[in-house]
Amino acid sequence: MKSMLLVLAAAGSMVMAGAANAQAGADLAKAKGCLGCHAVAEKKVGPAMKDVAAKYKDNKDAEATLTAKLKDGKGHMKVAASDAELKTLVQWSLAAK
Ligand code: HEC
Repeated sequence: MKSMLLVLAAAGSMVMAGAANAQAGADLAKAKGCLGCHAVAEKKVGPAMKDVAAKYKDNKDAEATLTAKLKDGKGHMKVAASDAELKTLVQWSLAAK
């Protein structure tokens, strides 16, 4: 019985960790104004993040490409965020579904 509970607790914390990352990305996207033009599941001014994620699914350089775009403002407005914030935002974009 006790081991069963431990397994459940471990599984629960893994799910929570994934949700926490997604939540951090979503919070940051909101704070940085991304959600004014983007949503996860539908097209607004910019593409839906799930479409971005699908487009870059097989692209090994997706993270670097998107980070450069957002950081240097190439083909996208320049985003005022630290490197760590950009990483969170890009990973959030690429993980959208
Ligand atoms: C003023 C509106 C606007 C804001 C604010 C905005 N975007 Fe965008 N975004 C766009 C448009 C329009 C496109 C489609 C054109 C393009 O591909 O650059 C786009 C495209 C993208 C793409 C896909 C680029 C590609 O190569 O397909 C990503 C990723 C992205 N935005 C992330 C973000 C993030 C993260 C933020 C917040 C820091 C943000 N955007 C804020 C308008 C916006």
